[in-house]
Amino acid sequence: MSAQAGVTLYARLGGFDAIAAVADDLLHRLMSDSQLGRFWAQRGEDGIRREKQSLIDFLCADGGGHLYYTGRDMVTSHKGMGITAKEGLGDLPAPRAGDPRQVSGS
Ligand code: HEM
Repeated sequence: MSAQAGVTLYARLGGFDAIAAVADDLLHRLMSDSQLGRFWAQRGEDGIRREKQSLIDFLCADGGGHLYYTGRDMVTSHKGMGITAKEGLGDLPAPRAGDPRQVSGS
């Protein structure tokens, strides 16, 4: 049995601060992406801050962290936005070279 057994994904990713940094970076990259930026084009600052906090809570809770996600489920919150299959997160631009938050391995 490996030393990682029983350790939550939340802990392995580095806990709240690391996940918050990833969420912050991800949202900035999504918003500045030439194809995906349209989803945030007309949104106010407060709504974006709230969305970022929801994303952090969701990722922490889903990874086994001690947070409680109070947002909507993923189908409900994205339904009707017109996100195409090709626009999935797999098509996001690669993290900047040398970015310390870049996840290596799997
Ligand atoms: C290209 C893919 C995606 C796009 C364009 C997108 C876009 C958005 C937008 C515009 C909102 C705000 C909705 C609103 O306030 O009414 C939102 C909410 C949210 N998204 Fe995404 N999203 C994407 C993928 C994802 C993925 C993969 C996750 C999870 C890992 C995620 C997690 C969330 C969460 C937790 C919220 C907040 C839900 C709530 O407020 O109740 N999104 N997304």
